[in-house]
Amino acid sequence: MLIDEFDINEVIIENQKAINEVRNIIIENEHIYGKKPKFFLKTYGCQMNEHDSEKLYSMLRMAGFEETTSLEDADLVLYNTCTIRANAENKIYGNLGHLKAIKRNKKHMIIAICGCMMQREHAVERIKTTYKHVNIVFGTHNLHDFPNLLLKYLKEKKMVIDVWKKSKGIVEGIKVVRKKPHKAFINITYGCNNWCTYCIVPLTRGRERSRPKDSILKEVTMFLRQGVKEIILLGQNVNSYGNDFDYDYKFGDLLKDVASLDFDFRLNFMTPHPKDFSDDVIDAIRDYDKINKYVHLPVQAGSTKVLKKMNRSYTREEYVTLVDKLKAKIKDLSISTDIIIGFPSEEEEDVDMLIDLIKYVEYDTAFTFIYSVREGTPAEKFEQIPEDVKHKRFDRMLAALNEIVIRKNAEMKGKTVRVLVDSYSNGMLTGRSDCNRNVTFEGDESMVGTFKKVLITRPKKFSLSGTLVEE
Ligand code: 5AD
Ligand code: SF4
Repeated sequence: MLIDEFDINEVIIENQKAINEVRNIIIENEHIYGKKPKFFLKTYGCQMNEHDSEKLYSMLRMAGFEETTSLEDADLVLYNTCTIRANAENKIYGNLGHLKAIKRNKKHMIIAICGCMMQREHAVERIKTTYKHVNIVFGTHNLHDFPNLLLKYLKEKKMVIDVWKKSKGIVEGIKVVRKKPHKAFINITYGCNNWCTYCIVPLTRGRERSRPKDSILKEVTMFLRQGVKEIILLGQNVNSYGNDFDYDYKFGDLLKDVASLDFDFRLNFMTPHPKDFSDDVIDAIRDYDKINKYVHLPVQAGSTKVLKKMNRSYTREEYVTLVDKLKAKIKDLSISTDIIIGFPSEEEEDVDMLIDLIKYVEYDTAFTFIYSVREGTPAEKFEQIPEDVKHKRFDRMLAALNEIVIRKNAEMKGKTVRVLVDSYSNGMLTGRSDCNRNVTFEGDESMVGTFKKVLITRPKKFSLSGTLVEE
């Protein structure tokens, strides 16, 4: 069960109190800003961070700030950081350096930084010593406390650092402002128990905790009543949902319960782990119309040897068996994946095996990464592969992958897909199909946030273009 070390309701009351106090201080100080104060919020990393930012966005709006997309115009800058690969961290340090110059001419500017990178002691130390113009630092486990920390800074004008080593329980009831009003991300689990040897996530997001089913269903229903058209269930490992419950309610049960809600919407989830992909989940995807026939199935490596070194808990053969089963049961299934190249112990023949696997599965798309050593993970101690070798292997793998992706997109010509329209610009609409492809077509702005049927007429390399099918 949940480790509720604090009273959740109390947390939300405190949070709201702090938001109101910040709002009052801001109104009193409006002469400093000369206008309504503005915030610039930038998010790095995964959907989990994007969703956390929807909560931060809502707190800032309630506290009286307005959004700006210009750093120069901002009175408060907030970076929600990622640490999954070294380049994600380097970008943040670069941005903080740039902000120093801006702040020199704008003394009242508040700089806050949060997210996964702040769960790393060395990063917080570096900020304390090198980036003294940063005002507020907090982590992933106390995101809900941001208004309090902001308030503390406004009152004391001294750097506020508050990073919790671990979670004290799941905070329910934080409001979100959705980036796209028709799409709602819903956390179902937090953290990860898998300890893949390359991955920093277990160290930044902590042990896996599942949200109670009733809270999830309540939140989903609320969003659907508001007219949301896509629900995305989120977790580092969604299909181990419920493993920490003392009653029997698993991911398949949740999927079916959400898909049974009587509204017009589509249902997606990410990210599932191949080792936990049970038959009832496969059957649910096949049997429930609302669940997209699309699965993101991170493979990471193509040989059992490298998978073992990564501690992925499945062999190449088990992964292939799972893909065979998914394809046999679900007609026209789209599959995407995550791939890491250059992980310790990898040899050219492991890359050959990966390419064979890519050709066998015929991924519709893939997120590809060059392995980046993360401090504190087991793989940090493994013998590393030289950077130039990693890059050569990456290019070889990518060429093979792109060939497949481009061919599969070309095969979409003449097919009709259903698209949830995300945006409009200059007469053109863009959205994602039920098979998770980016589709553009001509239409008008009123179609944003609705489902449309589109005939694919011009497949491009990595996206599709088509014409609206009148209904
Ligand atoms: N180096 C490179 N890629 C990584 N990923 C996770 N950790 C690392 C790392 N240290 C990739 C995995 C994961 C995705 C979100 O990021 O492929 O699925
Ligand atoms: Fe990282 Fe592995 Fe957990 Fe995914 S499953 S978050 S890759 S440890």
